[in-house]
Amino acid sequence: MSFIIAVAGKGGTGKTTVASLLITLLSKRKDGAILGIDADPNSNLAEYFGLKVKEDIGSIVDSVAKNLGSIPVGMTKDRYIDFRIQTSILESDGFDILAMGRPEGPGCYCYVNNLLRGLIRNLADDYKYIVIDNEAGFEHLSRRTMRRADRLLLVSDSSEAGLRAAKRIIELIKELAIEIKNIALILNRAPVGTEHCSAPAIAEVGVETIGVIPEDEGLLNLSRQGKPITCLEESSKAFIEVKRILDKILS
Ligand SMILES: Nc1ncnc2c1ncn2[C@@H]1O[C@H](COP(=O)(O)OP(=O)(O)OP(=O)(O)O)[C@@H](O)[C@H]1O
Ligand SMILES: [Mg+2]
Repeated sequence: MSFIIAVAGKGGTGKTTVASLLITLLSKRKDGAILGIDADPNSNLAEYFGLKVKEDIGSIVDSVAKNLGSIPVGMTKDRYIDFRIQTSILESDGFDILAMGRPEGPGCYCYVNNLLRGLIRNLADDYKYIVIDNEAGFEHLSRRTMRRADRLLLVSDSSEAGLRAAKRIIELIKELAIEIKNIALILNRAPVGTEHCSAPAIAEVGVETIGVIPEDEGLLNLSRQGKPITCLEESSKAFIEVKRILDKILS
């Protein structure tokens, strides 16, 4: 069974940055196959690596539904969708990426959710590590398809709103009975020496703070220049801190 690390939190707090750095660091360890799941239809995990996923699951489901004639003779619709999804997985250097997207057809959600749940269960046998970049607020696809994770990393800035969102996600996880072994908070872009200002709100979240990532000049430059995360210097503060977090998780 794979080791699943899920990343969630309020919009714009650094989820995809953390997820893509974790994938980069895991692939450097050369310790088994890694799958990144982009569960956020509004963002693009692959783009952080300068890559492009051919097709996401939402568009596969839509195109098969619109084009039932395209299903090969002797194959059921489910088998065909499953096959298309398998071939949509982007294979990169040291890791693979699967994008969930969002189906547009009406009433497709339940069907896609069930399909994905089964798929993630099967994929779990093929990959040693799975990193899931969830949608902000954990509201839509992600919460119904993710049934278990070994680690949930809640990313937040030091704002009240960010920390409240993290707390809300923990409540949702409990309501939905998602099986998560360990939940931890990552404080991102926290101005150095100001963590104590948010201490009451952090205590309210009620989980361990596993790391504090400072504002990082290297990350700012990457997004200014549209460069992939793999160009981030290993000496950058964000790289060092996410490495420390990963080491802690895997120890
Ligand atoms: N520690 C940091 N220092 C500097 N810039 C950062 C830091 N963390 C994230 N950023 C920048 O903030 C922006 C938003 O980060 P990111 O895309 O990871 O957030 P997100 O939570 O995935 O957003 P969304 O909810 O839109 O998916 C990016 O341009 C990223 O480079
Ligand atoms: Mg994102």
